[in-house]
Amino acid sequence: MFEQKTEIVFNKEVASQTFLMGIRSKEIVAEAKPGQFVMVKVREGLDPLLRRPFSISGIRDQDIVLILYKIVGRGTAILQEKRVGERLSILGPLGQGFVDPENGRTPLLIAGGIGVAPLLFLAQSIKVKNALMFMGFGSSNEIIPVDIIGDFKIQHSISTDDGSHGHSGLVTDLLAMYLEQHPNPQTSLSFFICGPKPMLQQVADMALEYHIPCQVSLESAMACGMGACQGCAVKASPQEGHTYRHICKDGPVFPVDQINWNLI
Ligand code: FES
Repeated sequence: MFEQKTEIVFNKEVASQTFLMGIRSKEIVAEAKPGQFVMVKVREGLDPLLRRPFSISGIRDQDIVLILYKIVGRGTAILQEKRVGERLSILGPLGQGFVDPENGRTPLLIAGGIGVAPLLFLAQSIKVKNALMFMGFGSSNEIIPVDIIGDFKIQHSISTDDGSHGHSGLVTDLLAMYLEQHPNPQTSLSFFICGPKPMLQQVADMALEYHIPCQVSLESAMACGMGACQGCAVKASPQEGHTYRHICKDGPVFPVDQINWNLI
């Protein structure tokens, strides 16, 4: 883990209210694993005081870390104004990322909205040829082009809530249709998911019902990013003894059966 003042190489809009930032750090690139994140100080000084967490969305040219973000509040609005050549204080890589897909299983990467951020890095790193990605967005202007991270080889399908592109409906419909056509999902598939909580819950239910290995990347506001403040704790599942997990330190990626989905 490094704390660095990194140079911004680009910061460009890639979809409505959604930006891709490239920051230069050979050290973070060398250590980063899909599913990990960085904590970014969006401005020098005390306002805002806290760093913001961002998934690592990919790496480029051996020394550029990609951060995909949507403008959802003050921190991301400040980030959007940053220009090429400015410097940002970054802490990372942090957290536990995705475990590599098991041999012989087809990895299904399932993303809702900006939840695509950590899965793009996984898609970039995955060696398995038959991996598939399902992505859901609200409307066509929110679609995040997969090739923003560079060469993108994984076959992918898109749904939009308003039917303006791809399947009309939810990304979970795409998954349900796929499951209907593929027998023995419990022995042939593995899920990797990130997105809004209702979507995560629905995919988690499918994974648990069909006994499909599933890794879920959870999002949370974070104050410290390192397990010190308790601000990101979630309840573990009954079989894990109803203890707590820190999204920042124990996650953000968890096996689906470690989390108590009734309390998320
Ligand atoms: Fe402080 Fe997780 S953000 S414990």
